[in-house]
Amino acid sequence: MMKKKALSLMSLKLIVLVLSSIAWGQQSMPLLIQENFDFARDQYKTLAKHIPADKMPQNYNPETGKIDARNIEWWCSGFYPGSLWLIYEQTKDPEIHQEALRALKVIEPNKTFTGNHDLGFMMYCSFGNAYRITGERAYKDVLFQSAKSLTTRYRPTIRAIQSWDKNKYWECPVIIDNMMNLEMLNWVSDNGGDKKFKDLAIIHSNTTLKNHFRSDYSSYHVVDYHPENGTVNRKATWQGAANTSSWARGQGWALYGFTMMYRDTRDEKYLKQAEGIAKFILNHPNLPEDKIPYWDFDAPLIPFAVRDASAGALIASALLELGQYVKAEEKQWYVEHAEKMIRSLASNDYRSKPGENGGFLLTHSTGALPLNSEIDIPIIYADYYFLEALKRYKDWYL
Ligand code: GLY
Repeated sequence: MMKKKALSLMSLKLIVLVLSSIAWGQQSMPLLIQENFDFARDQYKTLAKHIPADKMPQNYNPETGKIDARNIEWWCSGFYPGSLWLIYEQTKDPEIHQEALRALKVIEPNKTFTGNHDLGFMMYCSFGNAYRITGERAYKDVLFQSAKSLTTRYRPTIRAIQSWDKNKYWECPVIIDNMMNLEMLNWVSDNGGDKKFKDLAIIHSNTTLKNHFRSDYSSYHVVDYHPENGTVNRKATWQGAANTSSWARGQGWALYGFTMMYRDTRDEKYLKQAEGIAKFILNHPNLPEDKIPYWDFDAPLIPFAVRDASAGALIASALLELGQYVKAEEKQWYVEHAEKMIRSLASNDYRSKPGENGGFLLTHSTGALPLNSEIDIPIIYADYYFLEALKRYKDWYL
């Protein structure tokens, strides 16, 4: 009886939502979300046909019509399996399921990889989703091993996890992106694994809080440390327009990372930081009307600079989570912006046409403009965070 009543209340709520958005002349979010997951299912069946068995799709080059598939050690190898799991969760499509299982097997050897800090991206987005959806014990073991591998990069002198190895540019670099890898450490500690992993995530976050941010809550991309004594060598960029600029995806990683750290620790200083970053992004005079950032908030040539749809997708996903932790007024502000970003990404301005772009969902992402790499094209992580944003909206706001 109670169940029936709850069900009919839910359907009533859904009907009201659908009708009110029809009245506003735009697709309702329930329909938009459903339509995008169906679209993703069909696109990813196309994508699956065009990648070598031992590699993961990275991007699509519209000029050559070719998909760039990369070795599993590339930092993005978890996004394709992760996207497949997110699509499978919503569609229960058996072909997508098979491909998700296959892709997981291909990247599993990464669990012992220690060559950089990207294990969280690679293994939590993939095996983390797979475990959440299936509860398969073997996936948990992979996550435990991956977290252990990641912690080999913790450097006590700098009180952080080293992002990249020493090279001709950097002594001991830590990039803001690294905040994203901490989620796996927290998860393992909170789910029966080594408790020290979360301690390291907290120490890393505190060091990042101290050294990566400017007074307006924008973030440097790279902080390079002296490994022998832990002092800061320099603050700079690798993928941004300038050392002092605000690289768009970096601001997104910061927002997502500190929101996640608040979720996992309930430490108010992380929430305050996330809110400061959100305000920096959303109030920025260079944030375009459609809310999809240029590749850098200080990019030369704005308003003619290229966009980064991946930054839009990941910021939308992060804002939806941040909305869970704040008072009603702020929540509405964050969710309205996230919805606007999702609607922009789902529009013809950013979304592929059916069957096009090799099967990728979104175009207009920018990987590393100063390195002349992946400019204004479909890139796998934009798809992943777009799907995650759709799921979060559905789970939390419908
Ligand atoms: N280094 C990860 C990124 O390009 O965002």
